[in-house]
Amino acid sequence: MSAVDVLLGLQWGDEGKGKIVDVLSARYGAVARFQGGPNAGHTIHFDGKKFVLHTIPSGIFREECQNIVGNGVVIDPIRFEQELIQLRHSGYQPERNLFISLRAHLILPSHRLLDAVSERAKGKDKIGSTLRGIGPTYMDKTGRNGLRVGDVFQADFEDRYARLKQKHMDIVRSIDSNAETELEDEASFFSSLEALRALRCVNTEYLLNEMLSRGESILAEGAQGTLLDVEFGTYPFVTSSNTTASGACSGLGISPRRIGKVMGIFKAYTTRVGSGPFPTELLDETGQKIRDQGFEYGSTTGRPRRCGWLDLVALQYAVMLNGVTDLMMMKSDVLSGFEELQLCTSYRYQSQDIKELPIELRGVSANYTRLAGWNEDLTQLKKAEQLPAALKQYIQFIEAATSTPISLVSVGPGREQTLFL
Ligand code: IMP
Repeated sequence: MSAVDVLLGLQWGDEGKGKIVDVLSARYGAVARFQGGPNAGHTIHFDGKKFVLHTIPSGIFREECQNIVGNGVVIDPIRFEQELIQLRHSGYQPERNLFISLRAHLILPSHRLLDAVSERAKGKDKIGSTLRGIGPTYMDKTGRNGLRVGDVFQADFEDRYARLKQKHMDIVRSIDSNAETELEDEASFFSSLEALRALRCVNTEYLLNEMLSRGESILAEGAQGTLLDVEFGTYPFVTSSNTTASGACSGLGISPRRIGKVMGIFKAYTTRVGSGPFPTELLDETGQKIRDQGFEYGSTTGRPRRCGWLDLVALQYAVMLNGVTDLMMMKSDVLSGFEELQLCTSYRYQSQDIKELPIELRGVSANYTRLAGWNEDLTQLKKAEQLPAALKQYIQFIEAATSTPISLVSVGPGREQTLFL
C-alpha cells in the first residue's frame, strides 16, 4: 500500500529537516507540510545556492513533485508571497506544483501585533516567540474565530476581516493602550491575497487521498520539533501546534493507517532558540565552539542558538512519542575536533536519577556518559565505511539507547554530503 512517510524533528527544531526533505523528495509524488507556519525556516543548499523556505514545502525545487500546504498550517499571505517571489527570481515557477488547503488558517497583521504585545507583557517569562503571529492564529482557530484560505474567495471577506481585527485591537488596547499604532502591513496583506487567490487553493485532503489511491507515496514534512509540541514539549515554552507524528494525520486529513515510515531527524548535539529549560546547555567555550563550527544562528530570526550536548533522555522520549522507524543524524561534521563528547543518559531531578521527562524541565540537570571524539574532517566523505571509528561508536551508542537504527548521517549542508548507512 502506498503510504505517507513522516519526516520530523526530534529536538527543539532546526535539526536540518529541509535538507533531508530535499534529498528524499525525488522518491515521493508529493511533499506536504502539516503544521506550523512562517516560524519555520527550512534551509536548502544545492548547486552553490542557498534557499530558506518558511511555509512552502521543501520539495518545490523538483518540478515533478507536488507540494502541498495542508490544513494544519497557518499562512501569512505577505510572507508567502515573498517566498513565491524569491523562488521566481531564481527561475522556479512554484505555481506549477503547489497546492494550498482551503482550510488552512490565515495569519493577519493583527495576529502578529497580538503576538508582539503579549510577549512584551510576559516580561522575563516570555516564550521567545518568533513573533510571526503563530500563537494568536492557532488560538483563533481553536477559539472558532479564525479566517481560512477558503474565506478569501467569499464576498464578505473584508467584513469578516474587519470584525476579527476589531476583536484583536480591543485585546491589544487592554494590554497596552499605546500599541494600537504599531499595526502594520494591512495594505500589503490585502495585495498579497491576490497572489494567494492565483494559486491552486483546493480541498487538499481529497487531493492527498486520491494520490494515495493511485499508488503514489507522500512525504509529510514536519516543522519545529517534538520538544516544541504543544502537548508533549517543554510547555509553556513551545509552539502552538502538534509537531509530533499524529499532527500529520490531523494536519493533512489522512488516516493513521496510511502512515508508513517515521523518519526522526536530530542533530549530533542539541540547540534551542527562544526561552525555556535546556538541561544539556553549554554556557562555556565548548558551547561557543559548537555555535561557531555549526553556524548556529536562526534562519528565521537570526538569533544565536543556544548549544549543548546530545540529550538521549529527550531523544528516547521523542522516538517513543513519534514511533520513529529511522533516525537521521545531522551536522555530524560539526563535532569534529572535540577530544571528548558527552551524552546525557539520565537526569538528576529532586535528588533522584530519572530517565523520564518530568512535566517541567526546570531544576533538571544532566548526568553524562563520555565518549572519545574524532579530529577527521568529515565534509568530503562519500561512504559510511569511511566514518572515523569514534563516530561509529557514537552512532552505535545512540542506536542502542533508542533501540532505533540510524539510517543516514549528514556531514555538511550540501545534497551530496549525505551518507546512507
Ligand atoms: P512561535 O512558534 O513563534 O510562537 O515560538 C514559540 C517557540 O518555538 C519559541 O521558543 C521559538 O523560538 C520556537 N520556534 C518556533 N518555530 C521554530 C523553528 O522553526 N525552529 C526552532 N524554534 C522554533
